Amino acid sequence: MGKFQVIDHPLIQHKLTIIRDKNCGTKVFREVVNEIAMLMAYEVSRDMPLEDIEIETPITLSTQKTLSGKKVAIVPILRAGIGMVDGILELIPAAKVGHIGMFRDEETLEPHEYFFKMPEDIDSRQLFIVDPMLATGGSAIMAIDSLKKRGASNMKFVCLVAAPEGVKALQEAHPDVDIYTAALDEQLNELGYIVPGLGDAGDRLFGTK
Ligand code: URA
Repeated sequence: MGKFQVIDHPLIQHKLTIIRDKNCGTKVFREVVNEIAMLMAYEVSRDMPLEDIEIETPITLSTQKTLSGKKVAIVPILRAGIGMVDGILELIPAAKVGHIGMFRDEETLEPHEYFFKMPEDIDSRQLFIVDPMLATGGSAIMAIDSLKKRGASNMKFVCLVAAPEGVKALQEAHPDVDIYTAALDEQLNELGYIVPGLGDAGDRLFGTK
């Protein structure tokens, strides 16, 4: 089973409370989502491998550490995942960004893929798949199915708020994928929203309704 980690640093909890508030407007919501994503990226990237390199400081020759291994690609699930990309790029500026478009049928709650555009070397990259809300898990499962079919094998899923139902479904479907969230909430309601949640993340990020 992959790792499941709630990254509940005090700064992250504080910022999450700001965006959960229904009176938080689009500008602040967008900024704070990126801030949380950046803080989470610090923890999600903790196990990145390092190797030794020889460098010359102004004083002497020295052996120091540098990142090695797979390069990163950030994969936002459209549309809400886009809200987390810039924050992660602050920490990992050389990462490539692939997009996967999923929409949820409001009646059946089933996800459908409508867009897929990735860097050509996804099979040799570490992918951070990002979507603020892990609700039923349907979109995440389908996005990861789709990425695996195209050769990706090294994936972590990063969200802000998860429902237990979504975590369970994603772990069962893709036990090899580590899941990181800033909060594990209570449950889904009958409309598929996470409770207490923060509402529709896409609408709140982009000011739509
Ligand atoms: N997607 C959202 O944006 N919010 C939820 O609560 C569930 C799914």
